[in-house]
Amino acid sequence: MTNQQFDFGMVGLGVMGRNLLLNVADHGFKAIGFDKDPGKTTDFEKSASPGTIVKGVNTLQEMVSQLSVPRRIMILVPAGKPVDDVIESLLPLVNEGDIIIDGGNTYYTDTLRRYQYLQPKGIHFIGVGVSGGEEGARFGPSMMPGGDLVAWEHLKPILESIAAKVNGEPCVDYMGKGAAGHFVKMVHNGIEYSIMQLICEVYDILHRGAGLTNEELHRLFTKWNEGDLKSYLIEITAEIFSQKDNKTDAFLVDMILDKAGSKGTGKWTSQIAMDMGVAIPSIDMAVTMRNISSLKTERETAAELHHPQQNQAFNTFFRDDSLVENCRKGLYTAIILSYVQGMAMLHTASKDLDMEIPLDNAVKVWRGGCIIRSTLLESFYNAYQKNPETPNLLLDSSISELVKNNIGSLRQIAAASALAGVPAGALMNALAYYDAYTTARLPLNLLQAQRDFFGAHTYERIDQEGKFHTQWGKA
Ligand code: 6PG
Repeated sequence: MTNQQFDFGMVGLGVMGRNLLLNVADHGFKAIGFDKDPGKTTDFEKSASPGTIVKGVNTLQEMVSQLSVPRRIMILVPAGKPVDDVIESLLPLVNEGDIIIDGGNTYYTDTLRRYQYLQPKGIHFIGVGVSGGEEGARFGPSMMPGGDLVAWEHLKPILESIAAKVNGEPCVDYMGKGAAGHFVKMVHNGIEYSIMQLICEVYDILHRGAGLTNEELHRLFTKWNEGDLKSYLIEITAEIFSQKDNKTDAFLVDMILDKAGSKGTGKWTSQIAMDMGVAIPSIDMAVTMRNISSLKTERETAAELHHPQQNQAFNTFFRDDSLVENCRKGLYTAIILSYVQGMAMLHTASKDLDMEIPLDNAVKVWRGGCIIRSTLLESFYNAYQKNPETPNLLLDSSISELVKNNIGSLRQIAAASALAGVPAGALMNALAYYDAYTTARLPLNLLQAQRDFFGAHTYERIDQEGKFHTQWGKA
């Protein structure tokens, strides 16, 4: 097969790279993959479906020389310096017109920098967010390409055929200018953080609070996944509750240490939202909770000090007959509010960072393949079809109905958690966001007065244009 011309090359045959490239091959494209590790190239070739054309090589030169022109080369290595290193190694081997794709979870300004570096050299560089984990990569991910339009046109046939499909439509489309692809993927991950934290808080209410067993939780989440809450994250949560540990007789979830890891995309979402002046408190809280979770030893000491005996009345807050239904509706509402915040962030980024993100495309490609896929996305898609420019989905009449019909349940479970002392920060922040966003007059008139009092920062008036300053305390 030495003279074979390949359609698509992959640098990095780790879990994601290997599976994505096998997916490319399954769709009739000739796929060649590079990894320095011969074990990985062999594994890749061995896992190929019968009848597909694949090849694994251990030098970049071998890969580049066997690709048809313009070459389509995807990099799937850990984000950061490894991506720069691969680009530098590719540069002497590629030609003008070739396409380099970064499919990792890259910080968006790195993508902009690389685009600006490669454009004068005639190389089309494009950042593509890829979601769906191992299984998504293999059988249909959601993909978020942005930036170079020439690159997108060349990639479109391959990416459309390997993407997950919903209603026959591929879960890949153009996300906008510059680093929009990686930016949209980052916000996707921020929403992912928020939904995961919300599910954990509802688990805490139902398990530690109301005493539901893992078997009961398994049945409940399975049932929830048949209704409005239908989504990938609810589905896998249901499965997790039924998984037994293979080292003990316990359920595996009970044996897992409560310290959460992270790779940074949630934190970036919060940091950038702060810089842009956009409120995403549910995502912020999800990041914060992972940070607090890491303080295991301190938390154990603090628990002894602050609650030497577990609050006797703890369970009384969760005896309400409607608790389970309130959890379902409250979780549903808080999940909607997570998407609302993430989409509002994308709306602002689209303008402020000059990315021109088609928001309908973002929710469209999230309907299948990705970690945050859920039936809700269809409602958001419809909302953006009606008004693509809406700054906030809470301004859409159908979405506002969904929230108004269920917000009472979110109040109930947030209040019960507050009274019982169950940490439910993401549920509470979702509620706080909703209440603040839907309050016509916030008490921040007083805050403006305070700022003007001590710092002459001025304020605006409700009845006249302009900036005003008062000598406070003086008649
Ligand atoms: C996806 C996931 C994927 C990865 C997260 C995990 O869309 O497929 O988001 O990109 O699982 O980056 O992030 P943390 O390790 O930070 O939880």
